[in-house]
Amino acid sequence: MPTSARVLTGINTTGSPHLGNYVGAIRPALRASQKENVQSFYFLADYHSLIKCQAPERVHRSTLEIAACWLAAGLNPEHVTFYRQSDIAEIPQLCWLLTCVAGKGQLNRAHAYKAAQDKNAAAGRELDDGVTAGLFMYPVLMAADILMFSADQVPVGRDQVQHIEMCRDMAASFNHLYGNGRELLHLPEALVDEQVALLPGLDGRKMSKSYDNTITLFGARELMRRQIMSIVTDSRAPGEPKQTEGSAIFDIYRAFAEPEETAAFAREFEQGIAWSEAKEKLFARIDAEIAPMRERYAELMAHPQQMEDILQAGAEKARAVAAPLLHELRSAVGLRAMSAPLAAAADESAAERAAAPVFKQYREKDGLFYFRLATAQGQTLLQSKAFAQPREAGQAIARLKKEGAAALAPLAAQLEPAPDEAALHAALQALLDAE
Ligand code: TRP
Repeated sequence: MPTSARVLTGINTTGSPHLGNYVGAIRPALRASQKENVQSFYFLADYHSLIKCQAPERVHRSTLEIAACWLAAGLNPEHVTFYRQSDIAEIPQLCWLLTCVAGKGQLNRAHAYKAAQDKNAAAGRELDDGVTAGLFMYPVLMAADILMFSADQVPVGRDQVQHIEMCRDMAASFNHLYGNGRELLHLPEALVDEQVALLPGLDGRKMSKSYDNTITLFGARELMRRQIMSIVTDSRAPGEPKQTEGSAIFDIYRAFAEPEETAAFAREFEQGIAWSEAKEKLFARIDAEIAPMRERYAELMAHPQQMEDILQAGAEKARAVAAPLLHELRSAVGLRAMSAPLAAAADESAAERAAAPVFKQYREKDGLFYFRLATAQGQTLLQSKAFAQPREAGQAIARLKKEGAAALAPLAAQLEPAPDEAALHAALQALLDAE
């Protein structure tokens, strides 16, 4: 039997899902979880929600609603491991271990953090104004979510790909420092589905909360109907042929219907169906899929204890995976029982060497020679300017190794300004000490 891939996804617990989320994220995730040979882990990312939302009642209510939403949409907790992040105490513990290997410079470059800074800059405020350490650390917590379960694949939107790359970097650093050649933490792949339907909203733009053009998912049936009846159309009268292209009504219909139904709907457009009738048909088609789920949703919301039981059972399954791995990781970093055998001190200097910064010499496309000094985490501490000959680069490196920071001033003309003087000095000192 082929070994199964482990797929893991975090579900944001803020806001209430609309039809666009259902078609773009929920439905494809549920379909993927039904495949053979996948082991799915789906969790409510409620620790993450504290970054965005500091209203306790809203945090609680959203978590409840989102859990009900996924269960009502068909998530089968027997088949997938469905849990709440905050029930797994191992996750924040791993988060700390990763915090201690994550490069701060790398976190500085995270899109979400940079966007917050850009906004402040544009408003003429202090760059870190109102930025919490939680927002800054978001990628580390997300890495812990993923690495705690040795996920192979992480289905995410485009905007999250950078976070997966950071996760891989943290795992690689950790393995390099502590693994002794073993892959203690498994490097995941991002899975970006280019096929997922982007649903247009009421005004024809992408359906999104920020455009205020959404159609409710499990809100009242009458509300869904009213919203559908308000979709913007052109002014063609009943009887006039209508274009399917660019019609939000047609595009949304297609996201729910079988190909034959969609073809029949296109013929009705040609034959001049009235917009009001097209909207009624669209509502009926969506409602056929959603109505049973809406009922289940209401049922779950009326019985929150049922959901609590489901999540507790899920947490137990999740912890059975997380606890043994965390135990191993704690031991790997040296958090051990007092009675554990003491290893020879030689192991430690090996790890220190592994963590030492390294010089890298390379040739660029311009045909010239360069070097840089980088940390084990890949962060550049020092970048050279171009040398015509590799020997010249080699000599500069030799001098830095021999003299340390004292060589910086005489070599200044051949070096770019260092991004972080203090880190550079510390690294050069460490190289001197290791000689
Ligand atoms: N950051 C993800 C999002 O905004 C949610 C998330 C949290 C997540 N932890 C995760 C997704 C781990 C995948 C894996 O969509």
